[in-house]
Amino acid sequence: MARVALVTGGSRGIGAAIAKHLKAEGYSVAASFAGNEEAAAAFTEETGIPAYKWSVADYDECVEGIAKVEADLGPIEVLVNNAGITRDAPFHKMTREQWSEVMDTNLSGVFNMTHPLWNGMRERKFGRIINISSINGQKGQFAQANYSAAKAGDIGFTKALAQEGARAGITVNVICPGYVATDMVMAVPEKVRDSIIATIPVGRLGEPEDIARCVAFLASDDAGFVTGSTLTANGGQYMT
Ligand SMILES: NC(=O)c1ccc[n+]([C@@H]2O[C@H](COP(=O)([O-])OP(=O)(O)OC[C@H]3O[C@@H](n4cnc5c(N)ncnc54)[C@H](OP(=O)(O)O)[C@@H]3O)[C@@H](O)[C@H]2O)c1
Repeated sequence: MARVALVTGGSRGIGAAIAKHLKAEGYSVAASFAGNEEAAAAFTEETGIPAYKWSVADYDECVEGIAKVEADLGPIEVLVNNAGITRDAPFHKMTREQWSEVMDTNLSGVFNMTHPLWNGMRERKFGRIINISSINGQKGQFAQANYSAAKAGDIGFTKALAQEGARAGITVNVICPGYVATDMVMAVPEKVRDSIIATIPVGRLGEPEDIARCVAFLASDDAGFVTGSTLTANGGQYMT
């Protein structure tokens, strides 16, 4: 039987590449999204991967959404916590809303999705949790106090939970992508983007597939001894 994988924010960008890659590897895949129905419908039409709408920022919606996915596909064995947003502003202009939205989605969202699945994975003695953090959770970034804090929180969450999952056959790992060519990064003005590329030793932005291949490895049986690790995939821009 194919393993079931759920990719949050799997209808666009990095998440869509992860969902497609896992499907190509034989997983039974579901994607979730927040509200862009058009992108989700186009994604499902192109890939045949079902996309479910709920917000990872809302715990009850996560419980309901997970129940729907599991009713359709079976118990979720691989969870990719990929959904994320930015609300950038220099700190002196950052609003409480900008802080809370980013914390609710990028950090609490990881709790909200992982917590309802945890006991099932413990009982079945198998699980793969893969969190998508960011280079900016490792090094910090101007105008991203909210985002950098949430993404650094994802790394701490991963290291703590990996210790709890280890004896239950559950691995918990985190990937820190550098700058990847998705809507999130293409929304940055071209001049700023060029200045970012100039700081990347490999001389290009990442492709979503660069991150999807990392996820596929961490999800695989081959990665059973890898847990609590931070996989940095940033073209050499920041070496930890
Ligand atoms: N792009 C980069 O350079 C980069 C670098 C480092 C880390 N990352 C991280 O990688 C992840 C994916 O980034 P991306 O660039 O692919 O983003 P993206 O292109 O903006 O896509 C974001 C996806 O997340 C979904 N989403 C947003 N808020 C959500 C919520 N509350 N509940 C459920 N789904 C939600 C979106 O759904 P809708 O389509 O409905 O809006 C969409 O499917 C994020 O965690 C991001 O922080 C990205």
